[in-house]
Amino acid sequence: MAPRPEPKTAAPLIPRRPTIGKLRAAAAQCTACPLYADATQTVFGEGPVPAGLMLVGETPGDQEDRMGRPFVGPAGKLLDRCLAEVGIARDEAYVTNAVKHFKWGPRGKRRLHKKPNALEIAACRPWLAAEIALVKPKVLVLLGATAAQTLLGGDFRVSRERGKPIRSSLASYVMATVHPSALLRAPDDATRHREIAHFVIELRRVAAVLEKSY
Ligand code: URA
Repeated sequence: MAPRPEPKTAAPLIPRRPTIGKLRAAAAQCTACPLYADATQTVFGEGPVPAGLMLVGETPGDQEDRMGRPFVGPAGKLLDRCLAEVGIARDEAYVTNAVKHFKWGPRGKRRLHKKPNALEIAACRPWLAAEIALVKPKVLVLLGATAAQTLLGGDFRVSRERGKPIRSSLASYVMATVHPSALLRAPDDATRHREIAHFVIELRRVAAVLEKSY
């Protein structure tokens, strides 16, 4: 039987001597997985380089796709509010996603977010690896299962490890927690308030680690 072709990834597109600007420009042309075809644009990470804190989400949503910036929609606004509550300004952090194109399916006139699959995540991983190598975060926060499993392996369970420091060569302090969209999807106000409070406690720990590392 003929060997199966290797799945396509973004690896050949990574510039030889990358800067964040070169990466962003190269990623804008990425066709390593089919998601580019239905997305408006590549949504690359943004923030200071290097940065003490790096946050990784899943994929851009509808508003991020239109604006070309990560975490600017409802989940991003909640994230910014929670960061501010623990004294972290959003623009102090480098913010990005595991997958850089919006994946969606139509529901009437709306574009509903869909979860990226393993091939799409693997295709996009070289961009994320290159961002981490340049940003060199002291603290890396993984928001949700897609980000956590992309960087820590498919067996990683956010439900089990949430909020705990994880031993990893990616940064001196790595923590995974829930995605802010999950907080917005809480079934009722009481649950949402409780879950947001839990998330803020985790971010407070992150703020304390950051403070100590300066
Ligand atoms: N959810 C994400 O994971 N990333 C975004 O940029 C927006 C919503």
